[in-house]
Amino acid sequence: MNRTFTMIKPDAVKNGYTGAILNDIIEDGFKIVAMKYIRLTKENAGAFYAVHKERPFYNDLVDFMSSGPIVAAILEKENAVEDYRKLIGATNPQEAAQGTIRQKYAKSIEANAVHGADSDENAKIEGNFFFSQLEQF
Ligand code: CMP
Repeated sequence: MNRTFTMIKPDAVKNGYTGAILNDIIEDGFKIVAMKYIRLTKENAGAFYAVHKERPFYNDLVDFMSSGPIVAAILEKENAVEDYRKLIGATNPQEAAQGTIRQKYAKSIEANAVHGADSDENAKIEGNFFFSQLEQF
């Protein structure tokens, strides 16, 4: 078993897709091992996405990610990181495969419904950003 980290982003929460997205995640065989519903401050969002600091979209991304509540979760499944990236589809929803979460629930590359960790190492770092060891079942 291994783990990945996800966020349901402010656009998807605002549009009422939280339940449908969690259902897709569970139906795909993931077990939720930690979950919280919170609103990030700009500082939180900036720190989370610090790797993108030099990218032209960084400031907009930080504003967007702190614009409303999100759901953060740690998910467990065999091959979790790769399988979850398959389930969510390409970063740009216009390029996301049919039936993927971003194809179904996202509007734009920025407001793209969900985040998924891109490696085992980042999954651990990102999970630890949101959850203490005690909160990770
Ligand atoms: P995410 O997987 O959360 O990681 C970084 C985010 O930056 C990405 O999803 C997108 O929502 C956002 N983003 C905005 N513009 C771009 C872009 N041009 N290329 C990649 N990511 C972008």
